[in-house]
Amino acid sequence: MTSLKDIRAQFLEFFASRDHFVAPSAPLVPQNDPTLLFVNAGMVPFKNVFTGVETRDYKRAASSQKCVRAGGKHNDLDNVGYTARHHTFFEMLGNFSFGDYFKDGAIENAWDLVHRQFGLPAEKLTVTVYHTDDEAFDLWRKISGLPESRIIRIATSDNFWAMGDTGPCGPCSEIFYDHGEHIPGGPPGSPDEDGDRFVEIWNLVFMQYEKHGDGSQTDLPKPSIDTGMGLERIAAVLQGVHDNYDVDLFRTLIAASVDLTGRKAEGADAPAHRVIADHLRATSFLIADGVAPSNEGRGYVLRRIMRRAMRYAHQLGVRDPLLARLAPLLVREMGGAFPELGRAEPLIVETLKSEEEKFRSLLDRGLKLLDEETENLPAGAALPGAAAFKLYDTYGFPLDLTQDALRREGREVDVEGFDAAMKAQREAARRLGGVGRRRR
Ligand code: GLY
Repeated sequence: MTSLKDIRAQFLEFFASRDHFVAPSAPLVPQNDPTLLFVNAGMVPFKNVFTGVETRDYKRAASSQKCVRAGGKHNDLDNVGYTARHHTFFEMLGNFSFGDYFKDGAIENAWDLVHRQFGLPAEKLTVTVYHTDDEAFDLWRKISGLPESRIIRIATSDNFWAMGDTGPCGPCSEIFYDHGEHIPGGPPGSPDEDGDRFVEIWNLVFMQYEKHGDGSQTDLPKPSIDTGMGLERIAAVLQGVHDNYDVDLFRTLIAASVDLTGRKAEGADAPAHRVIADHLRATSFLIADGVAPSNEGRGYVLRRIMRRAMRYAHQLGVRDPLLARLAPLLVREMGGAFPELGRAEPLIVETLKSEEEKFRSLLDRGLKLLDEETENLPAGAALPGAAAFKLYDTYGFPLDLTQDALRREGREVDVEGFDAAMKAQREAARRLGGVGRRRR
């Protein structure tokens, strides 16, 4: 079995051998973009190179970029634990051309890597192109020899990639892997496309435009290439598993979580272990990149991720800090590729431990209150906004934590009522000339 570490190395070596500069991952906190909470795609550190604001002494690059999608346009937090492929932290493998090769080079490189180097059989691969992109369609035909029926034209935004409301963007072409008939789902563009059988493994973006704040769009100085391949997804394919959480690294982290909690990763307990493994990565990498838990901005997103993991640890019966005890294992597993993790290990352990200790008694009392509040509600009725607000304000429960805690009962939160309670409290605080009570 090829390990996740080896797949990362193979990807970077492949592009190094094709004259790409191998760029180390940039920190998770964007250095060049105040509009973005966290780096959420491999191209973010190169944004200004695409738009021509910055130049580098190379025209081709490749990287395995740390990404966090837990806030802002791309937010996967609530799904983690319940799906095969959502993560708050993941690595995005990518190759980039800054005005050097364009569609032909991108498609050639992609086909050589997935088919020739990784050995994925052509019959397991399907690609999509933007519906008007005849050039990409013809290039796929010529380079891969895939039948026309497996080069699918897609008219929706699925095949037009944008970094956010502003920034570089362009039509894209995606490569899908067919996990096989035993998994429900249809090819991209079909009515069953949301099933899990055909999984997107690589997105090739033909960067051509820049979107501006006023809604206008201009041409980039030079057509360029940005690609994104989730390392965990391609590792699942190459390791012959369907679920990212069955990849070697996650198996190791989950096995440790099982050991420390004494609860098997089965049935109703399975999501908890997955959440813990995923959130351990996100929180440790964020701390290593200088984010500290706090009540606003990036620090609050970090706190939300931590507290979500802590609630699941609590659900597994754990009362002592768990993430802090797992962090050294993560450092051993990933510190080779990301030396900043090793350097920050004492800080990561200390921060996790102190947050876990601080939140423990609030969590106990808050969950008790939540039980009391729901006990008298009719089945399926939403939790009143005022109760969710009390949990937030007094017990430090982020709204999404309360929503997540009610998920198993199939109960929602009255979010409008929550917002109204928040607004009322802010107005009262303003009237009193203070800042109101702080979230814990
Ligand atoms: N930038 C390409 C992607 O994130 O899919």
